[in-house]
Amino acid sequence: MAKKASNPTKELYQELRTIPWLRLWQEEAPRFQQSTSEEKTRRVAVIRAIGAGFAEANQPSLKEPVRQWLLSLLQDPSEKVRRYAMTALPKIGAGRTEERELLALLQKTHVDREKKFVGKALDKIGGSATLDLIRAQGSALPQLSEQRAKANLARQQKPSSIRLQAPLSEWTEIRLHLRCRTGLEPILSREIKDTGAKFRIMEIRPGLLTLAPTAPFRLDDLYTLRCFSTASFLLGTLPQSREVSEPLALLIASPLSRRLLQTFTDGPIRYRLEFVAKGHQRGAILKIVQRAYSLCPDLLNDSREAPWAIEVQPGPSGDFVELRPRLTPDPRFPYRQQDVPAASHPPLAAAMARLAGPFPDETVWDPFCGSGLELIERVRLGGVSRVLGTDLSPAAIEATRSNWQAARFSGVRTDFVQKDFREFSSIPGYGPGSITLLITNPPLGKRVPIPNLRGLLEELFETASVALRPGGRMVWINPLKIKPPATSLRIEFQQTVDLGGFACRLEMLRKQ
Ligand SMILES: C[S@@+](CC[C@H](N)C(=O)[O-])C[C@H]1O[C@@H](n2cnc3c(N)ncnc32)[C@H](O)[C@@H]1O
Repeated sequence: MAKKASNPTKELYQELRTIPWLRLWQEEAPRFQQSTSEEKTRRVAVIRAIGAGFAEANQPSLKEPVRQWLLSLLQDPSEKVRRYAMTALPKIGAGRTEERELLALLQKTHVDREKKFVGKALDKIGGSATLDLIRAQGSALPQLSEQRAKANLARQQKPSSIRLQAPLSEWTEIRLHLRCRTGLEPILSREIKDTGAKFRIMEIRPGLLTLAPTAPFRLDDLYTLRCFSTASFLLGTLPQSREVSEPLALLIASPLSRRLLQTFTDGPIRYRLEFVAKGHQRGAILKIVQRAYSLCPDLLNDSREAPWAIEVQPGPSGDFVELRPRLTPDPRFPYRQQDVPAASHPPLAAAMARLAGPFPDETVWDPFCGSGLELIERVRLGGVSRVLGTDLSPAAIEATRSNWQAARFSGVRTDFVQKDFREFSSIPGYGPGSITLLITNPPLGKRVPIPNLRGLLEELFETASVALRPGGRMVWINPLKIKPPATSLRIEFQQTVDLGGFACRLEMLRKQ
């Protein structure tokens, strides 16, 4: 086998990336400055390493000196040094001054490779001056596109947002796709039926419900539903076994897409295009978004901080093209102020709470409360007078307290206690038969190995049998599909649920 040619610049870069960033900046940058021009050309990796490491280093106060240093390198006599500096500049969040310098360089240089790199840098940071150049000279460089420059400008000037409260008056042809963890479809369907008449279920597939609105609606009507993971508008379905670029561009720029984007966006419309099941498709995406732009120049493709995603999702007879508002943080769970490493997926916690159903004068216990999502979701549904959360970890108890406070409930007595769940009986005010609902997502033994998970879960059954009042329920995720002791807890509901790559069982048991 032929030996791969070594690349000393790449090797130096990899070596430099192992050095803490601050040391790089304090030692390597001055050393670079003092070196001869041959030495500089040999050590250009220093520029790349400082640019790439800047964001991870979290040193905002050093942004200005780093920016000035990179700007000064744009004047270096070596084309290679200039090229490395212009690649590093967008990484530190460059702006108008850098754009001006790059455009000046473009006028000066006759080196094609340098022009290409200026084009690439301007593609990332170019704004109004770049747009003027493109408009005056046509596409001055193949790397520059009017669409990218407009998107950069739009992002810099006004970060767009999703209008949750805008009503959609023409709604009859709309189809919505709600995606959920596979296995949660029955609970999500129930939620849709129970919580109002604005949406009708048209079809149920694993992990996907298709809905039709039954009245004018707003996005926040949709976001009253808590058990779905993502919600999107179906723009259409692509033809099978044909070149899909043109049909996809037509769907992106379709009257339906424009109407939805115009109704629900505050500010310039920017979207990111993604082939969900196919990974990176840079070339294809570029062609499609350019075509969509030529059809509708108001829709700007932008992979950075775009408020919308247009996603191509696998479908049974042709891929679905879906338009999804990118709402982060999820507006349904604003109380999530603190997290724990193994926190539950919030829509799963909401689904567990719905599965539990009501009980008069409910006392709820989550023995492994983590950040408290199941407890909070259950209390949101009403009828709870008392809540107990236990967890071994002090950080988890603190997270539960802070999330509980942010959820702003009143009239519910709470006890959040740092304890092993097996010490339940020693918690003042609780004892045998005091709990009406035990709701929990226990350690699953996936991310954090548990020495004897089966033993732990068997002890959970034993403790639940004692803690629950007759008729009380235990709603939980059963990672090992173990059976409860036959005499005390009867299974009422069982459903295999995808927990993000591995299957567990969601169960409801009732104390006899
Ligand atoms: C899967 S996480 C719970 C996530 C939680 N539902 C949430 O929404 O954030 C499991 C939790 O169990 C806790 N834990 C593990 N063993 C425990 C034990 N013996 N007693 C109490 N808590 C325990 C861990 O500290 C961890 O916070």
